[in-house]
Amino acid sequence: MTVDDAIKALSPQALKMVKNNYIIGLGSGRAATAIVKLLSSYLKKNHLTVKAIPTSLQIKMEAEKGGISIIEPDQINHVDLVFDGADQIDTKGNMIKGGGGALLREKILISMAKKVVIIADESKFVKQLDRSVPVEVHQFARNTATIQIKKHGGRPHIRLLERGYPYVTENGNIILDCEFGKISNPKKLAAKIIAIPGVIEVGIFSKPDMIYKAKENGKFEILR
Ligand code: A5P
Repeated sequence: MTVDDAIKALSPQALKMVKNNYIIGLGSGRAATAIVKLLSSYLKKNHLTVKAIPTSLQIKMEAEKGGISIIEPDQINHVDLVFDGADQIDTKGNMIKGGGGALLREKILISMAKKVVIIADESKFVKQLDRSVPVEVHQFARNTATIQIKKHGGRPHIRLLERGYPYVTENGNIILDCEFGKISNPKKLAAKIIAIPGVIEVGIFSKPDMIYKAKENGKFEILR
């Protein structure tokens, strides 16, 4: 049994939220990929039509593979439902996201969505957030934002690809992965970091509507 089995097990319930003609935001990463694959067969089986807004090329290709129609964000004025994953989730439902670099688009869709559903494996759940926070920064602000983040107690490291090249987001920006230790007030920290000139987005997200915890034993729990 694996986490993918758990996602399969929770999918009938999660996908029931999908209604005909819905506009669905698709987060990026493994959990989002797993649910997109299941969404594709669910739509076919139930003769439903939806339009999806992918948050990255990775998930766009996955949606295309599954025959899910894509719509551009400038053609919509609302999002019915978002399916997404997370890198870390605390007991209050605060989250760190952006491990795959799609935080800006994920934040935009989540901010618009009527319902946000997060699916994450059990290793992501912690009492208090403490993993590095991805911060998307304009390239011009690489040094200035680094200095400011340090002033707020962070230790920023520019995200690099395996061979040492800087990672560039699909929006043309860099990511500073910032260590803050245990984060006691995620909202307050996010507000401080987003106020730094050149910071485009911060990978701290607040409480989604539903959280599915997918377990290694193939079972799942609903936390909100
Ligand atoms: C993408 O940038 C992220 O926000 C993902 O949602 C996050 O990294 C979780 O990904 P996995 O589902 O692959 O762990």
